Amino acid sequence: MRRWATGVSVVTAGSGPAQHGITVNSFSSLSLDPPLCIICIDHRTRAHEAIPAAGTFTVNLLAAGQEDVSARFAGRRPDLADPFDGLAVATAPSGNPVIPGCLGYLDCTLQARLPGGDHTIFVGRVDHAATFEERPPLLFFGGAYRTLAPR
Ligand SMILES: Cc1cc2nc3c(=O)[nH]c(=O)nc-3n(C[C@H](O)[C@H](O)[C@H](O)COP(=O)(O)O)c2cc1C
Repeated sequence: MRRWATGVSVVTAGSGPAQHGITVNSFSSLSLDPPLCIICIDHRTRAHEAIPAAGTFTVNLLAAGQEDVSARFAGRRPDLADPFDGLAVATAPSGNPVIPGCLGYLDCTLQARLPGGDHTIFVGRVDHAATFEERPPLLFFGGAYRTLAPR
């Protein structure tokens, strides 16, 4: 998998004191009609409970320069009591947080949960999507963050 380049997203679920976020690169488009996507979530994460509890999830697509946001929601900022600290989040139609500075988001209703070894495959029906300012994406390759190089 180190030889497979992906984008980086933060999947949010829940609102108010129940809001949760997790850094995810297992996001993929699944179907166009109906519009479906998948994320694969480790059984051991808190997100594995938070997403079904919310019944919805929002995939925030990170932009180049958002390495710190990725680190926050991957449990790599132990200095922060809450990974949302200092982030001026907006709200998606589902009520889930929208990460400031992201490229856009897909707001999903949880449609199915499929077994996937030590992960669960969450299938989301995309109810709303938004794109913001066009900027280069944050990428993950070879265990490191990257971005696009100009051709
Ligand atoms: C670039 C990157 C991609 C990741 N992708 C996933 C993923 O697709 N699924 C997953 O379960 N964890 C993934 N993780 C790990 C979780 O972000 C990490 O375990 C997180 O701390 C879980 O948070 P939680 O237990 O608070 O929900 C990824 C981490 C990084 C840095």
